[in-house]
Amino acid sequence: MLNEKNVQLGKVRSSIRELFEYGKSRKAEIGEQNVFDFSLGNPSVPAPAEVKEALKDIIDNTDPVVLHGYTSAQGDFSVRKTLAEYINERFDTALTADCLYMTCGAAASLTITLNAILNAGDEVITIAPYFPEYKVFTEHAGGKLIEVKGKKGTFAIDIQNIEAALTPCTKAVLINSPNNPSGVVYGEADIIGLVKAISDYSQKHGTEIYLISDEPYRELVFDGGTKVPYIMNYYDRSIVCYSYSKSLSLPGERIGYIAVNNKMPGWEEVYAGVCGAGRALGYVCAPALFQQLIKRVYNVTSDISVYKRNRDRLLAALTEYGYEVVRPDGAFYMFVKALEPDAKLFAERAKKYELLLVAGDDFGAEGYVRLSYCVSPQMIELSLPAFKALADSYKN
Ligand SMILES: Cc1ncc(COP(=O)(O)O)c(C=O)c1O
Repeated sequence: MLNEKNVQLGKVRSSIRELFEYGKSRKAEIGEQNVFDFSLGNPSVPAPAEVKEALKDIIDNTDPVVLHGYTSAQGDFSVRKTLAEYINERFDTALTADCLYMTCGAAASLTITLNAILNAGDEVITIAPYFPEYKVFTEHAGGKLIEVKGKKGTFAIDIQNIEAALTPCTKAVLINSPNNPSGVVYGEADIIGLVKAISDYSQKHGTEIYLISDEPYRELVFDGGTKVPYIMNYYDRSIVCYSYSKSLSLPGERIGYIAVNNKMPGWEEVYAGVCGAGRALGYVCAPALFQQLIKRVYNVTSDISVYKRNRDRLLAALTEYGYEVVRPDGAFYMFVKALEPDAKLFAERAKKYELLLVAGDDFGAEGYVRLSYCVSPQMIELSLPAFKALADSYKN
């Protein structure tokens, strides 16, 4: 007999993918420019020029046997050292190369981290709305995902909801800021409140709770004043799951890292658990060529001005048409209140206007839809009459 759970996972496409596939067939029917596909979070700006230059140089000037060979399981030492020094300079930490573990992107960073720390029955709290794969990753590692609602309307962290969800089985709190799907950035007060809640609880009950920060969107913030607090500066028992998929527009190349906070008591054991989980999951090592690339372009980000332009245009237009929009300060997603209680029905109605929006139910937040605005500014312009017509259809 097969592993039924995995068979089901393989058969049932996520509703985001489902919508994307629908969009592809609809485009074939009525023309690419007539379908407004806001379903997927695939970066729409190319990787920066520095990426191509560095790749060419690395390929032209490195012994291919070395370049394409296995690296050490945790990643090439000089790559990890460079990244640790960069993180220290940026965030005033004191990490060493041995706090870092190179991965195949944030998804791998998360599965490895969760497998490193979870035992059967452990609970992982996350804040809705959240990335739906968290449930898959947590359950596969033997844990249980506990969904806690964010604050109504703003989707900031609701500390009281966190406090109510903490139990002796809580092993970790998993946060994602800038957030997919809301684009919300958790401010310093949010992080301080969260850290106090979990510290108070663990001290009172003698438990250990990890704070995991999923950070594929850290570099995607649009306004100079928006700060994304670095959790290691607030909480010792913390782990950062980072990825270059979005910041360098390299989602197909699979490169990122895990950083284990060396201020945490027994951090070496946690790091060993990370190495063990990576081994057990069969990752062997992160892509060698892209490790070398990251060593050269660790401080470069794609041109995110298009995302900012798209955000500003959509935010202004949708608000004008009467939509209630949660202001996104980062990532490339926007959460919009559905114009009827059932967001799935709203998303179905939007399809009649060729607007492909994902219902928030999939992210643990009913009554909203997600728009991925990592699309061309032209598509945004062409889509605006459809958004207006959709809103007007509820007024008649
Ligand atoms: C919140 C969040 N976490 C993790 C991932 C996985 O990213 P990666 O491509 O780095 O595996 C994504 C991808 O969209 C995401 O939105």
